[in-house]
Amino acid sequence: MELTLSKYIAFPKEFVWGCAAAAYQVEGAWNEDGKGPSIWDTFVHTPGHIANSETGDVTVDHYHRYQEDVALMKSLSLDAYRFSISWTRVLPTGTGHVNQSGLDFYDRLVDELLKHEIEPYACLFHYDLPQALQDQGGWPKRETAFAFADYAHVVSERLSDRVKVWMTHNEPWVTAMAGYGDGEHAPGIKDIPAAFKALHHLLLSHGLAAEAIRASARQPVKVGITLNLNPVHPASESKKDRDAASRMDTVLNRSTLDPLLKGTTPIQEFAIGRLLAGSLIKPGDMEKIRTLDLLGVNYYTRTVAKYDSKFPVVAAVQVHPEGREYSGMWEIYPEGIYELLMRIWNDYLRPLQAGAAPGTKMPEIMITENGIPVPDGLDFDGHVRDERRIRYLKDHIAQVHHAMDEGVPVKGYFHWSLMDNFEWAWGFSQRFGLVYVDFKTQKRTIKDSGHWFTRLIQEDGFEY
Ligand code: FCB
Repeated sequence: MELTLSKYIAFPKEFVWGCAAAAYQVEGAWNEDGKGPSIWDTFVHTPGHIANSETGDVTVDHYHRYQEDVALMKSLSLDAYRFSISWTRVLPTGTGHVNQSGLDFYDRLVDELLKHEIEPYACLFHYDLPQALQDQGGWPKRETAFAFADYAHVVSERLSDRVKVWMTHNEPWVTAMAGYGDGEHAPGIKDIPAAFKALHHLLLSHGLAAEAIRASARQPVKVGITLNLNPVHPASESKKDRDAASRMDTVLNRSTLDPLLKGTTPIQEFAIGRLLAGSLIKPGDMEKIRTLDLLGVNYYTRTVAKYDSKFPVVAAVQVHPEGREYSGMWEIYPEGIYELLMRIWNDYLRPLQAGAAPGTKMPEIMITENGIPVPDGLDFDGHVRDERRIRYLKDHIAQVHHAMDEGVPVKGYFHWSLMDNFEWAWGFSQRFGLVYVDFKTQKRTIKDSGHWFTRLIQEDGFEY
């Protein structure tokens, strides 16, 4: 008889459990109360960009239903909620005129969260650049970084008496590469040099915004950034594939981690980077970028890379090995979250700590997104039995715990997402929520995974 022993995975009491969401994906109310158009409004209203021509015009109507949604968060026992602020609600044309009604919405949201003892984690940018700034060149233009810092200042002045944790950007790599490189995201531009420029300006804007937030904050605050990171593995042991994986890793991971945590950039390792670096990176930029109280890690999957000379810059292509488990969008690879956390710790944070003056505060690490898209549905009795998501959660959270056991000081875990919502170019075809949403009636139903997550939070652990 085979005996399997389960073990109890226990987390510290102060570990932060939360959910994450993004303004454009959940708010709706795309043109209400003085909000200006963002590049996502323009993008979705142009045919051919989004599956089934869906839009985030209404999505899950969180703008009007935020009280019901915060009550849901409370019923799930969340400690924290990571949301993003729509730049064009606050500054409809990106700079200049401040729209008080836009700020009022976030004011109400923050108050509602605090009333329910849920810590607000505010992210200033989750892909939705003001269209007016895109019209002037967008992120490939250096001026955009300064406009972002001014916007950060306006929001911090209004909310920092209550918001203690600020994330400048969500996934600057995706903003740059999907927005300006392959064009899958707004503004839909396919221009690789522009994507490299955008990435540098996004990172610079992080540094400038961090300065602006700290200068205007009404209490001590933490300023962080959230990165999309994934381990890259070679498709075979051949030297060509191993080199391809290493180049892919440089572009995917080191292009953001090195500037933020080492103050260096690996872009000169590529011909296009060498061409740009001189004119792009001004004296003092790298020092500005290297400032972080909190590193947010978004983890979904790994990348398997194979040599292919057809592809520009990296000469590599992502492949999907047979015999693995996949979800609606990606391979399921729980060990990757452990590998990533160990790498961040060993290659970046430990050396930083070793070289720092005594008493220097090290950046904290949190998982700021992790989740799985599976085709959930309501059963005959109104339940959503999303067993695969529960398994995904257990496997990934156990790997986070494993990294903590090995000494990586992970402080929190945010699930993506609270509710099913608008998944960018995929429209409404991918459900990531702990809460099921009927997109026609807006009815919310807590899935079995949501109930499981609540027990985990209440008990600070689970049987594995
Ligand atoms: C991340 C994004 C988030 C969501 C998830 C599935 O890359 O930050 O908005 O789309 O993927």
